Amino acid sequence: MGLEVNNLKVSINDKTIIKEATLKVGYEEKILLVGPNGSGKTSLIQAIIGNPRYRVDGRILLDGKDISNIPMHERVLLGLAASYQIPPSLRGLTLYDLAYNIMKRFHDDIDIIKERIYSLASSLNMVEFLDREVNREFSGGELKRSELFLTLLLKPKIILLDEIDSGVDMENLRIMAKEIMRYYKRYKPGILFVTHTGGILRFLKSDRLYILLDGFIRESRDAENAFKIIMESGFYKFT
Ligand SMILES: Nc1ncnc2c1ncn2[C@@H]1O[C@H](COP(=O)(O)OP(=O)(O)O)[C@@H](O)[C@H]1O
Ligand SMILES: [Mg+2]
Repeated sequence: MGLEVNNLKVSINDKTIIKEATLKVGYEEKILLVGPNGSGKTSLIQAIIGNPRYRVDGRILLDGKDISNIPMHERVLLGLAASYQIPPSLRGLTLYDLAYNIMKRFHDDIDIIKERIYSLASSLNMVEFLDREVNREFSGGELKRSELFLTLLLKPKIILLDEIDSGVDMENLRIMAKEIMRYYKRYKPGILFVTHTGGILRFLKSDRLYILLDGFIRESRDAENAFKIIMESGFYKFT
């Protein structure tokens, strides 16, 4: 159970980005997704979460239920969440109001909503940002913390993290990894995460690794070693 993607083809504007991807993210699994720039990691994540810009063929299953044709908010309701690699900033809307509005779609109890917002913001050192416009003039690390905050807000079962560690210093990385691990131990989600630098791997060990290359996906069960080889010799060592 968890997330299962079978023979997925992903296109945008008539351009096929992923020819065929098959992967699994089970509960209590931490899975690394890597690939060169432009190989389609972001497209794959956005297709799984249901971004309507991407056209998909194939199947996306969550706990055995085919979700490939349902809209994004319904996938979120079923327990999927994805972070943006480049989070948008929003004028005239505070982070608190955005968080509140997201929570309000799925919960009725205002006390529960407030408690969730403040406890998560507090763990991620984000309380002082709640009154600021979403992501406006946030530093690189603040932007990624804000993104992780919004991603974890609804207590997702399957979490897709797109380069959560890019441009983030060690201190911010530590704060984020600590919260991810706390969440992981408490709620036992499945996590698929993309990293370029490997920065997050210092704190978050992966169980398996997928490599996206030339539109196809490959799996390595020895994630640590595979990542080391990629860092030393490049992605094409795996062709
Ligand atoms: N709107 C679009 N129209 C055409 N091509 C796009 C569009 N968006 C992304 N692409 C292309 O899709 C490919 C995969 O991009 P992306 O999924 O962002 O890769 P990655 O996250 O692995 O770096 C890239 O070649 C990118 O230029
Ligand atoms: Mg990307």
